Amino acid sequence: MKNILVTGAAGFIGSAFARYMVEKYRHYQIIVYDKLTYAGNLDNLLPIDDEENYRFERGDIANRETLKAVLEKYQIDTIVNFAAESHVDRSILTPDAFIHTDFVGVYILLDEGKKHGIERFVQVSTDEVYGDIHEGLSVESDPFLPNSPYAASKASGELMVRAYHVTHGMNTVITRGSNTFGPYQYPEKLLPFFITEAIDDRPLPLYGDGRQVRDWLYVEDHVTGIDVALHHGQSGEAYNIAGENQQHNIDVIHHMLDHLGKPYSLIKHVPDREGHDRRYAMDCAKLRALGWQRQFTFEDALQKTVAWYRENEWWWRKIKTGEFMEFYKQQYAARLAAADQRDGNS
Ligand code: NAD
Ligand code: TYD
Repeated sequence: MKNILVTGAAGFIGSAFARYMVEKYRHYQIIVYDKLTYAGNLDNLLPIDDEENYRFERGDIANRETLKAVLEKYQIDTIVNFAAESHVDRSILTPDAFIHTDFVGVYILLDEGKKHGIERFVQVSTDEVYGDIHEGLSVESDPFLPNSPYAASKASGELMVRAYHVTHGMNTVITRGSNTFGPYQYPEKLLPFFITEAIDDRPLPLYGDGRQVRDWLYVEDHVTGIDVALHHGQSGEAYNIAGENQQHNIDVIHHMLDHLGKPYSLIKHVPDREGHDRRYAMDCAKLRALGWQRQFTFEDALQKTVAWYRENEWWWRKIKTGEFMEFYKQQYAARLAAADQRDGNS
């Protein structure tokens, strides 16, 4: 393994992975390939901009021509695919891009990778493929029961990875991470959205009763999990990467507000997300058996994360304009108005 194409690494987790790999493995070439959608941001890669073993190329994973040119130019032998449309709420409003990238894009990446003789292909996936887990923990052999267009498109991408492994003997590994948080996360996801809104004393639109359960994983632990799976995972296998830290959304937000020193009264219970999964929870013994272990406690990681958004307004203030505000209006205006009306009437 020498020349690694990291697709979608101008986004949140991919950029953390690229920064980590460039520092840790000086003898690897890390080539980031990213379409730079609304979620792609070259600021996320600034810390490694001058590094000798890092290059950036702009392109779509579903575009065979640009992809082929990059695979050849850098003699790529390994692909780690982070590229995705990643936000459940957007998949409910506008699912087309999810099918394009999370399914068709993965197929084209596999197909061009196969033609080029790729030696290792890692697909970064999600616990959402298992669907709503009322009790217990998902293990890797559990069936897929995806509920959102996002989860369905990620599950479809995984099935194509499996097919290329079985049919063409491609050396593949899949990782399924749980809800991830940390610096450089686009402020549409729960924690960065609520932290940055709370800094400005704006209402925090919590869906439904806020008692949905997510398993929170710090981004740096997610990245080391992918590193372990890349280097030690068995071909054809999938590995859960869990935070083993299941919490109700409302409790996570209370902790976050305590760290910021802001009042709980900022929370507004708004009408729920359609098809909202109540609980995700995974077992990650299979990855631990390869030698992975988490480094961060939830409390430390949350504190670091809150501090980072407080200290890096330059990064998120310019994002929360234009396109973001259009999405905000579409997603939240009616919900917040309904909550105001309810509270005014009660
Ligand atoms: P993100 O939305 O922050 O970043 C996605 C990146 O992919 C962006 O840089 C975007 O420009 C790029 N991209 C989108 N479409 C592309 C295309 N067609 N071609 C090339 N690049 C494209 O996402 P994230 O939160 O960093 O998630 C990264 C991966 O991890 C995704 O595959 C996601 O499904 C998975 N995942 C995320 C979480 C989470 O909690 N955020 C948890 C588990 C798994
Ligand atoms: P999110 O960050 O969108 O991740 P996912 O849907 O992939 O788990 O949401 C995390 C949880 O927070 C989820 O239960 C939905 C909830 N949520 C809200 O209550 N309000 C919001 O504005 C957002 C974005 C999420």
